Amino acid sequence: MIPDTVIVLAKSPRPGRVKTRLQPTFSGAEAAALAAAAIRDTLDTVARLGPRRLVVAWDGPSVGWLPPHAVVLPQRGTGLDERLEHVFADVFALDPAPGGVDIGPGRPTLLVGMDTPQLAPRDLDVDWAGHDAVLGPSEDGGYWAIGFRRYVAGAIRGVPMSTSATGNVQYARLKTLGLDVLELPALLDVDEPADAARVAAGWPGSRFGRLHRRLVESPCSPTILFDAALAGAAVEIRVGEHGEGTVLSIDGATPAESGLGALIRPGHLDASAWQRMSEADEVVVSRCEGPVLDVGCGPGRFVEALASRGVPVLGVDLSRAAVDQTRLRGASALVRDVNDRLPGEGRWGTVLLADGNIGIGGDPLALLRRCRDLLRPGAVALVETSVDPHEDRRTTVTLHGPSGRRSHAVPWAVVGAQAVVELAARAGFVAVEDWRVSGRSFVMLRHAG
Ligand SMILES: C[S@@+](CC[C@H](N)C(=O)[O-])C[C@H]1O[C@@H](n2cnc3c(N)ncnc32)[C@H](O)[C@@H]1O
Repeated sequence: MIPDTVIVLAKSPRPGRVKTRLQPTFSGAEAAALAAAAIRDTLDTVARLGPRRLVVAWDGPSVGWLPPHAVVLPQRGTGLDERLEHVFADVFALDPAPGGVDIGPGRPTLLVGMDTPQLAPRDLDVDWAGHDAVLGPSEDGGYWAIGFRRYVAGAIRGVPMSTSATGNVQYARLKTLGLDVLELPALLDVDEPADAARVAAGWPGSRFGRLHRRLVESPCSPTILFDAALAGAAVEIRVGEHGEGTVLSIDGATPAESGLGALIRPGHLDASAWQRMSEADEVVVSRCEGPVLDVGCGPGRFVEALASRGVPVLGVDLSRAAVDQTRLRGASALVRDVNDRLPGEGRWGTVLLADGNIGIGGDPLALLRRCRDLLRPGAVALVETSVDPHEDRRTTVTLHGPSGRRSHAVPWAVVGAQAVVELAARAGFVAVEDWRVSGRSFVMLRHAG
């Protein structure tokens, strides 16, 4: 039986406001695009089903692609339970329906959300005979659909939402109210990246499936996967042509067999190591002359350590997550490319290129020249180098993350102390000191003035 009214409950797909559990595997904008695809798939399914009335219970700014015949009602209330309850009150109060169709109490009204883009018309075309309500449980313990023949006050309000018990508590509530409930088959809700991958694989032709495939199959910005690593996701670094070289990790434990930088060795990227100050890091901090600019500051262990010693310091990093984490440590950082305009150009006392960051951009001479422009005459650049003093290699780095996501290859350089000293001379520096601690190598360069 086709319900007389189908309600699609949806939230405007704004980055950072919807499908946030898909982040950080997907960026906020990508998660929002997946949410929009899921809503549109759901609307297409309802259109194919052809109920007499489509209601969209909408939260947030409107979008241009809602069906023109849909009755759009703003959601009311605070919690999801309250908003669901209000939607049914509002819909059963809409009588007669637009176009004079008499749809009112006693006629099946089914509500679905925006987390099941895999819905087919047959999932909604159920036999209500003898039932007052329907409930479609989802695999995670919630529910993907709920429907009534009439407004039943208190049917939803107070049911705890988004828990593994939500479906059971909702079912019990309906029974307590004396309703005869038809249970629909359980469906998978898209909440986590793994759910998205399952739904996309099972329904490759849906908007959601097509978009998911495009996002996963085309290389993304490395910062998306770097942010994912900082949030604890398993991310690998691959070095070499087309990213097909050695699989490496960044974990701070041992010297770099790869020579990519002291924090990189075979395994997977363990950004938690970037949170801890090591003995070698302490030596770096002791050499810094304020104010310090930490280029590629990551989650900010150096920035925090310097700030806590009263040294004026700013971190810059391309990664929003890295900058957020630095700020959470109470230190200052900007989301910025080192080549963008930066505060205090020509006035910094130290530029820090730690953790192999001399590799940034794959052109160490250009990076050293940029550092020289950032420094005041006589100031210093502290550079962590490859442990092999003669190494001087240009390569690429590719990040590989969850759900098969991979970044495009970014140019990187692997440079030993001797090569850094030679390049530094061409960039207007003189080398004043080099040292090794715990298998990590560093060079101090002074702006020749
Ligand atoms: C090897 S990690 C270094 C981690 C960091 N030094 C720490 O203490 O945790 C390289 C860092 O450089 C950043 N990065 C890469 N290219 C950059 C650029 N052009 N400008 C600024 N930061 C950059 C990356 O986002 C990453 O955080």
